[in-house]
Amino acid sequence: MKRILLSLLTLATSLYTAKSAEQPRQLPQWLEKAVIYQVYPASFQDSDGNGIGDLKGIESRLDYIKSIGVNTIWLSPIFDSEFFDGGYDITDFYKVDPRYGTNTQLVELVEKVHEKGMRIFMDLVAGHTSDQHPWFKQSQEADRNLQHSDYYIWTDSKDVKPKNFVTPIGGEREGNYLKNFFDCQPALNYGYANPDPNHPWEQPVDAPGPQAVRQELKNIISFWMDKGMDGFRVDMAHSLIKNDKNHVETIKLWREVQDWFAGKYPEGAFVSEWGEPTKSIKGGHFHIDFIFHIGRQGYTSLFYNTDKKQTDRICYFEKEGRGQVKKFIDMYRTEYANNRGLGYLSIPTSNHDIWRLRNDRRDDYDQLKTAMTFLLTMPGIPTIYYGDEIGMRYIFGLPNVEGSVLKSRNRAGCRTPMQWNQDLNKGFSTADPSKLYIAQDPAADAPTVINQDKDPESLLNYVRALLRLRSSSDALGNSGEWEFISDTDQPYPMVYTRTAGKERYVIAINPSAKKVSAEFTSLKANGAEVVISANDKVTYKCAKGRNTMDKVTLAPVSAAVIRLK
Ligand code: NOJ
Repeated sequence: MKRILLSLLTLATSLYTAKSAEQPRQLPQWLEKAVIYQVYPASFQDSDGNGIGDLKGIESRLDYIKSIGVNTIWLSPIFDSEFFDGGYDITDFYKVDPRYGTNTQLVELVEKVHEKGMRIFMDLVAGHTSDQHPWFKQSQEADRNLQHSDYYIWTDSKDVKPKNFVTPIGGEREGNYLKNFFDCQPALNYGYANPDPNHPWEQPVDAPGPQAVRQELKNIISFWMDKGMDGFRVDMAHSLIKNDKNHVETIKLWREVQDWFAGKYPEGAFVSEWGEPTKSIKGGHFHIDFIFHIGRQGYTSLFYNTDKKQTDRICYFEKEGRGQVKKFIDMYRTEYANNRGLGYLSIPTSNHDIWRLRNDRRDDYDQLKTAMTFLLTMPGIPTIYYGDEIGMRYIFGLPNVEGSVLKSRNRAGCRTPMQWNQDLNKGFSTADPSKLYIAQDPAADAPTVINQDKDPESLLNYVRALLRLRSSSDALGNSGEWEFISDTDQPYPMVYTRTAGKERYVIAINPSAKKVSAEFTSLKANGAEVVISANDKVTYKCAKGRNTMDKVTLAPVSAAVIRLK
């Protein structure tokens, strides 16, 4: 009897678990092969000689973008803006800023991108506007019953000023507003998770103001999707609902928006700037989330590419070999397991907010190839930040440009104009060099596309080879299985496998300046072949006789993609 009761209980528990487990979602098929390329529009290609990049410039470089092996362009914001935060302070979500072109030119760009078999994402700044946005202007009026009065979060009196609230310049409204980032970026009102009755500015998420703002978000999405856009990267996606412990309400909001979106635009996709895929993908139904400098920790321990809260400058991808991988791998394993089949993790080469892959910790091409081998053979969707494919440097000490300098970090150094050729301004612009959006890398050996294009040993051609191999292989592709097989306590080299059915690869990475090797339980292959390596001297020995271990040995600063037979 006891046994029957126990089995019934087990059955009931397994039924319940099966029901509550996340069902695999129908994801757009093209994401299986997607590789993202982030373009910072002001810095990519200037077509009209004013020193600032623009849409026509981007259009003229589509063949190059395609030649890298990427297929999905993400454009940082190009909307009407005051440019106090590089375009992330928007004054009109429905209009391309004249410095970049026109809406018609954007639609033309989208069409050209599609003709070339690629896709394109825009940046959706969901959480705030510029303080010059007409919504905010209206919400500053004394009358609090206007259409946009509750689109932002206002205290009732100028004397009440909680943390992150700002006293407005101008306007008749009696009160202070909540900012999201800089003072000029008032937070849109999506409501509070648990409004405090003593804080009248904290409205519930279902109050009319927050619901109207949510609808505005959908309107913006529809407007651009109907013009042919393929999706969005969402700025600060984690931050929409305030005082939201564990992001419970923010996850609900995104799930509602994403499920609506998937019904209306089943081929569209969303990337979140969040850094916690279990929340964004599994919870909020985003398609892609970044593994990077915010959210779950680990990425910066590999790359050290931001000043924030780091005093000793040690990272895994450095020649000194002092780094560790445990923090990253422990985090990645969990996120990988939690989100498999539900969406894709993306480890970017860098972005417009942090240092570039090439900085003073990694300044030679073997180091960059080693890091790229890792970045372009991990599962999920790779993201290459423009210029990283040729090893453009992070430039230290540049002056503030449109809000690039933060207390914690200078972002101008990763936003310098693209280096194309040996012409004036390295082909970026015909403007006088003093008029460039940001000054370029002054080094005599600054890399350019033209030099690397023809050089079979260049970083650019190495990246192309990696991406060609990736796109030809299910194992190395976005959904191939991943398993970390070396010892996280002996970080150099790190070794992992990528597999799909009978196709198997081992990837071994050694950023240190020492020759290193790792042994692991035999993968029982009938031989191994190095398919791509960042530095030739790599050997793979399969277990033989009584030895049950395989062994990989790598030269200093090297990496290899090894096919098992
Ligand atoms: C994150 C963006 O990536 C960054 O560039 C911007 O300054 C802030 N969000 C505010 O929008």
